[in-house]
Amino acid sequence: MAKKKQEGYLSAREARRISRENRKITNAYEKQRKRKNVPESEYLTTMRDIGNSVEFDNLHTYFFTDAGTVKAVDGVSFEVPIGKTVGVVGESGCGKSVTSLSLMQLLQRPQGQVVEGAIRLNMGGKAYDVTKTPNEILQQIRGNYVSMIFQEPMTALNPVFRIGEQINEVIELHDGEGKSEEDIKARTIELLKMVGIANSEGVYNMFPHELSGGMRQRVVIAMALACNPRVIIADEPTTALDVTIQAQILDLLRQLKDRINSSIMFITHDLGVIAEMADYVVVMYAGRIVEKGTADDIFHHPAHPYTIGLMASKPVVGKKIDKLYSIPGKVPNPINMPDYCYFKDRCEMCVGGCDGAYPGEISLSETHKVSCWRYEGKEGQT
Ligand SMILES: Nc1ncnc2c1ncn2[C@@H]1O[C@H](COP(=O)(O)OP(=O)(O)OP(=O)(O)O)[C@@H](O)[C@H]1O
Ligand SMILES: [Mg+2]
Repeated sequence: MAKKKQEGYLSAREARRISRENRKITNAYEKQRKRKNVPESEYLTTMRDIGNSVEFDNLHTYFFTDAGTVKAVDGVSFEVPIGKTVGVVGESGCGKSVTSLSLMQLLQRPQGQVVEGAIRLNMGGKAYDVTKTPNEILQQIRGNYVSMIFQEPMTALNPVFRIGEQINEVIELHDGEGKSEEDIKARTIELLKMVGIANSEGVYNMFPHELSGGMRQRVVIAMALACNPRVIIADEPTTALDVTIQAQILDLLRQLKDRINSSIMFITHDLGVIAEMADYVVVMYAGRIVEKGTADDIFHHPAHPYTIGLMASKPVVGKKIDKLYSIPGKVPNPINMPDYCYFKDRCEMCVGGCDGAYPGEISLSETHKVSCWRYEGKEGQT
């Protein structure tokens, strides 16, 4: 068997072998997915706590690529309580988007597959495990129960259709039963008003290119809200906008959440935004959760060296320093993760246990959990 020649490089033969094996694995998953008339009992489940709208339970999402298996999400568990905002932070590539795409079941298939774990979605009265739910049911769930606001509004809008037509289409598709054309139009106008668009009748007839970035993002939010979803996933919704518009959009999301009592899963690498928005915070690193807790736990008592590093690399108004802190080193190769703590090679606070296996989750308090050897034997102490 051909060996790896150099770190990260594969011979053509090796790549072919991996690709053959991948196909075998992904074909098996796809076959399972494509079955018709799957009985509801297969994907029906019960929430651990009915006060949650989503529960991620030991989620593993892998990408089977020709270069090897990318463990993009590797054992993630957290919950999104009803009516609350959960912020998911972590640097680029740590698996934030893959976690949210797993909930929407919009992974790039067949390479991307949920290989283990469950994602329980509270549908009111019953709960589904979306990782086992067949496609035709998922189509109704998307939009009606879970919807997503993307980073770049132009990717969610079709440039050749008018704004009004695009929102109408969403309503028709998911919530159109028994509604006349006028009803749908009225609902679209109402949504445009709700997201703070003053000239809603005018915007109804405009094309996306006629709007500014902030206006487009408002339209995308209106689309996401069209069917009163219970969970809104916002994946870096303000990254493409300038700071003043960013503040307006965050304000808008906060107001809307209270008005329709939905949960928000807010993904960003900007801790400032999280501080403004989130009730709970989940910190991800290299496909795993290193720390989670209430916003107060994370901002006032950060425990994991990575979280402490993130806090230190955030500019603070009124504090004079020569240079912002930057965490040394880089994220390990996702195809070849070490068998010890993934952060160890970058960590400046290592202790004896760090040479051991990947650390387990330690409860510092009821809400505050951390995976770090520094807290071994210190359960219940913050
Ligand atoms: N379609 C894909 N094929 C192969 N690998 C993928 C695919 N999509 C994502 N990945 C890998 O999964 C890992 C997690 O990616 P993800 O997009 O979730 O990162 P992220 O935390 O959202 O980063 P960012 O802040 O840059 O958006 C990365 O290593 C990425 O390269
Ligand atoms: Mg992302």
